[in-house]
Amino acid sequence: MLNTNIEEALNSQYNFEMYSANIYLSMAAWADSQNLSGVANWFKVQYAEEMFHAQKFYDYIIERGGRVIVGQLDKPQSDWASPLAAFENALHHEGIVTGRVNDLMSLAIDSKDHATVAFLQWFVSEQVEEEANADAIIQKLTLMGDAPGGLFLIDNELATRVFTPPVGE
Ligand code: FEO
Repeated sequence: MLNTNIEEALNSQYNFEMYSANIYLSMAAWADSQNLSGVANWFKVQYAEEMFHAQKFYDYIIERGGRVIVGQLDKPQSDWASPLAAFENALHHEGIVTGRVNDLMSLAIDSKDHATVAFLQWFVSEQVEEEANADAIIQKLTLMGDAPGGLFLIDNELATRVFTPPVGE
C-alpha cells in the first residue's frame, strides 16, 4: 500500500501531467492558427507524450492499491508571440516538471518507498530528454533568426515527429 503522503503526491503529479498535456495541446492549436502545421504536429506529439506520462502515474497508483483523484485543471495560455516564445515556454514548463519529479523522488526516498523510487527513475531520465528536446529546437530557432525561409524549413522538420510509446512501458 502507498502511504497517504505519497499517494497524494502521485495524484498531484498525475494531474500536473494532464495539465502539461493541455498546455501542449494549446500550443498546437495556436500553431495551427498560424498555419505552422509542423510546429503544431510537434506539440500534438508532445501532448500524446504527456498523456502517456499521466497514464503511467494513473496505472501505478492503482497497481499499489491507491485511489486516483481526477482534479480540476488550470486553463492554459492560448497565445504566444512566436514559435520561439512557445518553445521557451515549453522549456520553462519542463523545468518545473523536473523540479516536481525531483521533489517526488526525495519524498519517496525519505519515506523508504523503494517501489516508488524505482517507478520514478523512469521520469528522472525522461525529464533530461524532455528538456533537451525543447532546448534543441530553441537553439535552431535562435540560429535561424530572421533568415528567409528558415521557419518554413524548421516547420517541415517538426512535421516529421511521431509519437512512439516506449517498448515495454
Ligand atoms: Fe511529463 Fe514533459 O513531462
